[in-house]
Amino acid sequence: MHQTPPDGTAGPSAEQQAREDALVRQVVASFDRCSDPRLRTVMQALTRHLHAFLREVRLTEDEWQRAIAFLTEAGHITDDRRQEFILLSDVLGASMQTIAINNQAYANATEATVFGPFFVAGSPLIGPGGDASGGASGEPCWVEGTVTGTDGAPVPGARIEVWQADADGYYDVQYADQRTAARGHLFSGADGGYRFWALTPTPYPIPHDGPVGRMLAATGRSPMRASHLHFMVSAAGRRTLVTHIFVRGDELLGSDAVFGVKDSLVRDFVRQSAGTTTPDGRDLGGRAWSRVRFDIVLAPAGA
Ligand code: BEZ
Ligand code: FE
Repeated sequence: MHQTPPDGTAGPSAEQQAREDALVRQVVASFDRCSDPRLRTVMQALTRHLHAFLREVRLTEDEWQRAIAFLTEAGHITDDRRQEFILLSDVLGASMQTIAINNQAYANATEATVFGPFFVAGSPLIGPGGDASGGASGEPCWVEGTVTGTDGAPVPGARIEVWQADADGYYDVQYADQRTAARGHLFSGADGGYRFWALTPTPYPIPHDGPVGRMLAATGRSPMRASHLHFMVSAAGRRTLVTHIFVRGDELLGSDAVFGVKDSLVRDFVRQSAGTTTPDGRDLGGRAWSRVRFDIVLAPAGA
């Protein structure tokens, strides 16, 4: 494969290109006898694309060393509460591309978006109309909707996991005190309906005190995520949906750091002034609140 530099310079000689081509062929062939055909395909394609990248940018040895130092630092900062490699995948759009490949549009099924690093298995059960905030700071938000199949039939008993950042922009797992807040799960009712209290989503930065944050700063990119509320919805015989809803009018909708925004997921969070009667009669102590409707449509499993 002959490379012409994008800057219009002459580029490597034919002899040099032949040498580089030969190395690519040699590395690709080194995987020929891999007995797992899928692994062979992945490794050979990775080799071809990685070498094409190195050759296109004519990577210097200094840049190679800096890349290794970057990945080493990403490894050192990663532990069971911080996952710098997922962040890297997210800000490079690799997470969203993988989601796009694996969650192809199916009829009117709700679109998927990025999972992010802050889901925790084993969240508290909140009953119908319960409060997922767990005491986290923020304005109360009443969330309601239905879970249906693409045929419109209700999906009772769907497990709905929700999680979000507090008004200070942090998930519970980012605090040192092991708190559980602003997350929970509930189940859709016999009519597919669900309702609960959460927090009105606010914008927050992805963790940016590590190598990924430095890369964003060096490239003039913002770490801010558009305001959102995470959902993961699962039910027997349905494709599990990992998604968020976003806030209409949020100025970050067009510049989300992890490319997660989809128009179909933007919702009206309707502001309710202090003292407005709540749907379930809950006394909010004179606070303002908001409400949003999110009707969830699940694709069949295997779609
Ligand atoms: C999140 O929305 O929780 C998230 C997604 C990607 C990177 C960091 C955070
Ligand atoms: Fe989030």
